[in-house]
Amino acid sequence: METLKVDLGPRSYSIHIGSGVLERVDLLLPHLAQPKVALITNETVAPLLLAACARRLREAACQVVEIILPDGERFKNWQTLDQIFNALIAHSCERDTTLIALGGGVIGDMAGFAAACFQRGAPFIQIPTTLLAQVDSSVGGKTAINHALGKNMIGAFHQPRLVLIDPDSLRSLPERELRAGLAEVIKYGLIRDLPFLEWLERNIEKLLAKDPAALLWAIHRSCRDKAEIVAADERERGERALLNLGHTFGHAIEAGQGFGQWLHGEAVAAGTMMACELSRRLGWLDAGEVDRIQALFERAALPVRGPRLDPDRFIELMWRDKKVRNNRLRLVLLERIGQAAVREEAPLADIREVIASRS
Ligand code: NAD
Ligand code: GLY
Repeated sequence: METLKVDLGPRSYSIHIGSGVLERVDLLLPHLAQPKVALITNETVAPLLLAACARRLREAACQVVEIILPDGERFKNWQTLDQIFNALIAHSCERDTTLIALGGGVIGDMAGFAAACFQRGAPFIQIPTTLLAQVDSSVGGKTAINHALGKNMIGAFHQPRLVLIDPDSLRSLPERELRAGLAEVIKYGLIRDLPFLEWLERNIEKLLAKDPAALLWAIHRSCRDKAEIVAADERERGERALLNLGHTFGHAIEAGQGFGQWLHGEAVAAGTMMACELSRRLGWLDAGEVDRIQALFERAALPVRGPRLDPDRFIELMWRDKKVRNNRLRLVLLERIGQAAVREEAPLADIREVIASRS
C-alpha cells in the first residue's frame, strides 16, 4: 500500500492506494468519530461490494446504515439527495455519523454534498470504485449535484477525512467506464506533467487491458498531481482551475445531450480536443501537437469530437458553467503540452468555429 497526503492544515487527509485496501477496515476506524456510519452506494455497486464492506465494519463493532441509490448521472439531483437525508434522519444519524461514499464520482459527489449539508457538516470518507473517481473526483473535496440547467451547479467544498483506493475494485468496471476515466488521467499529463503524458503514450494499451501494475502507477501519479494542486489551491482561486481543461466544453455536451447520454469522461475528451483546437488557433499549440494529443485519445477509444449541437445553444450552456467572471468566458487552454493556463481572451467567433468544426 502507498499513502499520499493532501496537505490542508487541520483538514489534511491521507489517500491510501493498494490492492486489498478495501479489506483494511483498520485504516478506516481511527477516522470515525462514533461507531455509527452511513454507507452510501448505488444499485450497481451494492451487489458487487456493499455486503463485504458492511460486514467488515460490523465485525469491527460499527453500526452500519446502508443507503442504496439509483444508478446514473441523471439521478445526481435534489430528489436523490433527499433520499440520503431521509435515510439519515430515519436512522437517527447524528452530526458525528460518518458518511462513507462507496462508488463512482456520482456517489462520491452526492454523498459528499449530503455530508456537507447534513446537520451543517458531517464527516465523510471516500471509497471510489471507478477509475475516474480513483484518479480525480474522490480527492479534493468538490461535492455537488446537477441542476437541469447546468452541471454540478449546486454544491460545496467539503473535504473527506480519508480516501481508500483499491484498484482491485476496477475488475468489474465496464470498459466504457474505464476509458472515460482515462480522459481525466490524460488531463494531468496535458496540464502539468509531461513525463506522465509520455508514460501514458507508452502504456495506454496496458491501462486499457487493466494491467494491475500500470493501473496502480497511473492512479498513484494522478492522485499525486491532484493532491499537489488541491493543497496549493483548495478553493480554486488559481491553479486548481487548470483541472477544468476541456470541462467547460464538456459540461455543455453533458447538459446539452441530457445527463447520462455522454459519460463525463467522454465529454471531457471531446471538450479537451476543442480546447486544444482553440489553443492552436490562438497560436500556442501547433498542428502536430494537436494531432499528438488526438492520437492518444483515439488510442484510448475516446471521442475527439463533440455531438451535433447548435453552436448558439452550446455557447449558452458554456456561459452557464461556473467559469464566467466579469462577463468573460474563462477557458483552460494549453500554452504547450504539459502546461495549461486560464485565458479569457479567446474571441467568441473562434470558440464558435471550434465548436462547429469539432462537432
Ligand atoms: P459514475 O459514478 O456514474 O460511475 C460510472 C458507472 O460505473 C456507474 O454505472 C456505476 O454504478 C458503475 N460502477 C462504479 N463502480 C463500479 C465497479 N467497481 N464495477 C462496476 N461498475 C461500477 O461515474 P464516474 O465516471 O465515476 O464519475 C462521474 C461523475 O464524477 C460526474 O458526475 C462528474 O461530474 C463527477 N466528477 C467530480 C469531480 C470532483 O472533483 N468532485 C471530478 C471529476 C468528475
Ligand atoms: N475535477 C476538478 C477539481 O477537482 O477541481
